Amino acid sequence: MIGIIGAMEIEVMQLVKAMADTSQEKISGITYFLGRLNSSAVVIAKCGVGKVNAAVCAQTMILKYAPEMMINIGVAGSLSPAVSIGEIVLGDYAVQYDFDTSALGDPVGLTPEVNLVKMPCADNVLQLLQKAAARLMQIKCHVGTVATGDQFLNAPDLKKKLASDFSAIACEMEGASICQVCLLNGVPFGLVRAISDNADDDSDVDFNTFMRMAAAQSTALLLALMEELN
Ligand code: ADE
Repeated sequence: MIGIIGAMEIEVMQLVKAMADTSQEKISGITYFLGRLNSSAVVIAKCGVGKVNAAVCAQTMILKYAPEMMINIGVAGSLSPAVSIGEIVLGDYAVQYDFDTSALGDPVGLTPEVNLVKMPCADNVLQLLQKAAARLMQIKCHVGTVATGDQFLNAPDLKKKLASDFSAIACEMEGASICQVCLLNGVPFGLVRAISDNADDDSDVDFNTFMRMAAAQSTALLLALMEELN
């Protein structure tokens, strides 16, 4: 079974609609949709925005349904001039940029227990996602570090800092949290984000304008992955 998590309804509902043989179960306020996409068994959930919601959902999904692979899909802000609205970022690493015990001598972003700043996404899942991306010839796809924090970025200064401190190319609010849960549980993790805005002064307006289109791009990549797995 493949576990798929998105923060917002718009990020997961097209996939849920494409499922066959669906059933659903609600746990701690989160609905888990079980069924098939193409020939793959999947469990899909909308976790809600932010790192705690994402961690609750990911851990529950793992304990309850034991997915052999977990993928976080959705939209993100771009941190790089090379990464434009509508394009896709596949995470190779994820960092919790707002985890800060630097006053105690640690590097900013160090995640305790995992004991890493940059947490790796699974190589084999990334390779599968790249193959899926190659099927979507019309969508440009980047691989790089994704920065996660409990903040919607519309600040050029913080954007520059995340790009320079972590060489991150996209920012969002759940990926590194789910990555951490997956590392703690030994579940291979993949991170797919389509760009809805540039995390700058205009990001609130751009987000509202482009999130639907960006969510459709990440959905398209997931459907291409299901074809790849067929
Ligand atoms: N998701 C999409 N755009 C974002 C932004 N600018 N900051 C945080 N998360 C996002």
